[in-house]
Amino acid sequence: MSVIHVPSNVRDYDVIFEEDLSFIDSITARSQKIFVVDENVWRLYSNSFLKQIPPDDTIIFPINEDRKNLESVCNIYDQLIIRSPKKNLTLITIGGGILQDITGFVASTLYRGIKWIFLPTTFLAQSDSCIGSKTSLNYRGFKNLIGTFYPPHLVHIFTPFLSTLQQVDFYSGLGEVVKLNIMGGYEKVQQIDSLFSAILSRDPSILKDVIQKSLLIKMDYISGDEFDQGKRNLLNFGHCFGHAIEAVSEFRIPHGQAVVIGMMLANSIALDRGILSEHIHDLLYRQLLARALFTKPLKEDLDIEKIISAMKKDKKRTGEGLPLVMIQNNFSLTKVDNLSESEVYFAITRIRNMLEI
Ligand SMILES: NC(=O)c1ccc[n+]([C@@H]2O[C@H](COP(=O)([O-])OP(=O)(O)OC[C@H]3O[C@@H](n4cnc5c(N)ncnc54)[C@H](O)[C@@H]3O)[C@@H](O)[C@H]2O)c1
Ligand SMILES: [Zn+2]
Repeated sequence: MSVIHVPSNVRDYDVIFEEDLSFIDSITARSQKIFVVDENVWRLYSNSFLKQIPPDDTIIFPINEDRKNLESVCNIYDQLIIRSPKKNLTLITIGGGILQDITGFVASTLYRGIKWIFLPTTFLAQSDSCIGSKTSLNYRGFKNLIGTFYPPHLVHIFTPFLSTLQQVDFYSGLGEVVKLNIMGGYEKVQQIDSLFSAILSRDPSILKDVIQKSLLIKMDYISGDEFDQGKRNLLNFGHCFGHAIEAVSEFRIPHGQAVVIGMMLANSIALDRGILSEHIHDLLYRQLLARALFTKPLKEDLDIEKIISAMKKDKKRTGEGLPLVMIQNNFSLTKVDNLSESEVYFAITRIRNMLEI
């Protein structure tokens, strides 16, 4: 069993990499607990990995990006209050990033904060979202507009859950893994490149290794800036365009895949601005980004006017210009607030050509 200890201003917590299912027994032995389980995960695992979990203590929750909202939060409040109107309740979430965002918000606000344990079951949630303390809800069509900082008290990672993910969801996680490893520097890029086929074949020990390394890179960017005042902002690499692409595609393109396209666009602008050489631009495109793209965008998903309008609404925008995080030749990141609409135009046109759409 290996553990990553995550320091946090709210409270430190551990991410435990589990070798077997004995951890489920220790969770079910707790008093005053309620499980919230992604409906698909329950369907797949209620007779196997999750068979010790008492159905009476379980809320089975259907998820999709449209349900990451206050209505779902109220729905879970209602079900929790009926079952356990007490502050010493432990909420246990079993699912991916969407259920994490909804239930993390619930845990941080119900009774001003209850105990929260998270079992991420997607590649994205295991390798990225399970640390960092953010909970987010969409509001009136705006992505992640509402949220809190509230880490889980404990995270258990069991990689065999990943064997049943649909390809589209697996590749969504791969997008964030590729992003973190590009941010980790040239050596990390080479490592992911050499492991690419093993990752795609979902070799559990390779996945465990890749997940651990990705979380450590993310931790590096969060440490000292948990509340997103400075260097944590750089984790938004791929997300400035990514959030806009998700919104314009009406969430047909899943989060991590939108981030892959977002990185392609950011790198194209970095190339035009002379901070990324053609050599590194092409290397990143060929070795990682093109291979990590599974959900090819349609022409209308990259509608230039719509993308610009969505980027203008991004909550991370502070100045008049558009913000963008870019990678530079030495693999350090830079954030600018002066991205112009003509740069967006040229970058989207280039990526459309490269992707032949
Ligand atoms: N809070 C954060 O820090 C943070 C960071 C990154 C992303 N996010 C959010 O995470 C969300 C995306 O999360 P995600 O990629 O985990 O997607 P998800 O939660 O939507 O899950 C994807 C699909 O996989 C299914 N699923 C879950 N586990 C499964 C399993 N083991 N086998 C088979 N199917 C399974 C789900 O039912 C769903 O249909 C986005 O809303 C994004 O904004 C949050
Ligand atoms: Zn993300």
